[in-house]
Amino acid sequence: MAPVLSLRNVSVAFGFGRTSRESAPVQVTDKVSFDIYPGEFFALVGESGCGKSVSAMSILRLLPTPSARIVDGEILFNETADGRGEESVAVSGVDLAKLPLEKLQKIRGSRVTCIFQEPMQALNPVVRIKKQLLEVFKFGGCSVPDPLQEIRRMLSLAGFSDPDRVLESFPHELSGGMLQRICIVMALLPKPRLIIADEPTTALDVTVQAQVLAVLKDMAEKTGTAVLLITHNMGIVSEYAHRVAVMYAGRIVEMGPVADVISSPLHPYTQGLLAAIPESHQDMKTLESIPGSVPQPRDFAAGCRFADRCKVCAAGSAALQAKCRSAEIPPQFGLSAVSPPQLELGAVLPPNGADSASDTRTVHFARCFKDAL
Ligand SMILES: Nc1ncnc2c1ncn2[C@@H]1O[C@H](COP(=O)(O)OP(=O)(O)O)[C@@H](O)[C@H]1O
Ligand code: SF4
Ligand SMILES: [Mg+2]
Repeated sequence: MAPVLSLRNVSVAFGFGRTSRESAPVQVTDKVSFDIYPGEFFALVGESGCGKSVSAMSILRLLPTPSARIVDGEILFNETADGRGEESVAVSGVDLAKLPLEKLQKIRGSRVTCIFQEPMQALNPVVRIKKQLLEVFKFGGCSVPDPLQEIRRMLSLAGFSDPDRVLESFPHELSGGMLQRICIVMALLPKPRLIIADEPTTALDVTVQAQVLAVLKDMAEKTGTAVLLITHNMGIVSEYAHRVAVMYAGRIVEMGPVADVISSPLHPYTQGLLAAIPESHQDMKTLESIPGSVPQPRDFAAGCRFADRCKVCAAGSAALQAKCRSAEIPPQFGLSAVSPPQLELGAVLPPNGADSASDTRTVHFARCFKDAL
């Protein structure tokens, strides 16, 4: 099975376009690589400031210009990854990092769509929901015989029992959870291959977060759309994602099927994130936190960027500590082969998607020296 999106060693730096008297550009993400397969819910997790949004925004080149630049790597988008793309924009296996802007614009909002943290900012406050959803058909490059009927159908799938009442509303007349479900419908209407959802429930009350994520997962599965879910919340990852990449200080430090990463995290940072998830039976006093905070890109040290906060390093031998603080971890450390995930999505996957034994094997790896000495 071919991935719908492949990031290959993507690095982003900020600080271009300044005058020479100001400081030099600073690299904030370093050789970020992952694949997302058709129908997959792929999570990118890490504390605030780790580079999740920068990585996600690099995909559609939505980073601020002229300050930000993709300084290295490829972002391969495969429109026809499962053979369903023939009738849409004729794009196949293109490098979005280098695609001319006018071609990229045909993919933005059409083949790849976004859901952001604040639904109120994604919607126009003075325009009724109906008009805003109908606009998708004007600019999203998609056509259906009866757009309004399709919108009503999608709103019903998103849990609205009275779609017509919602369609006649202005955004301020609806709750945050309702607005975010409308944004999910908006993102799915053009029948994209991939949705990038950047902290889609962080701004919502905890009580509606689960409902919104369940709607996103359910609708993405029904339509076979892949989702890149950005979150700082390991609890959300464990509940909704198929595979996860853990990011720390601009690098992916661990990646694998969610069940494996949760049951046997290999990297001390992942172990720290998991130890910080509160469980209902747990005494709050026993909840652990990772001491310190994510370094600023300007302060990234040589060696492992987690070394100042790492318990394993602190308790390790002098040889381990020296290696952690000086040696560069190779990008592929511990990685033998990353294969397509085994998804239980039934009809949305091609019937013979896994065509060899190695295709069905999932690999869980971490980039860390702790087992190397
Ligand atoms: N516009 C910008 N200019 C300079 N640095 C930025 C900009 N946006 C993000 N950064 C830096 O890039 C790093 C990663 O940020 P981000 O991807 O937003 O983190 P996350 O989404 O994981 O919380 C941070 O150190 C942040 O300060
Ligand atoms: S490389 Fe060293 S400092 Fe980094 S996570 Fe592993 S043990 Fe800790
Ligand atoms: Mg972010």
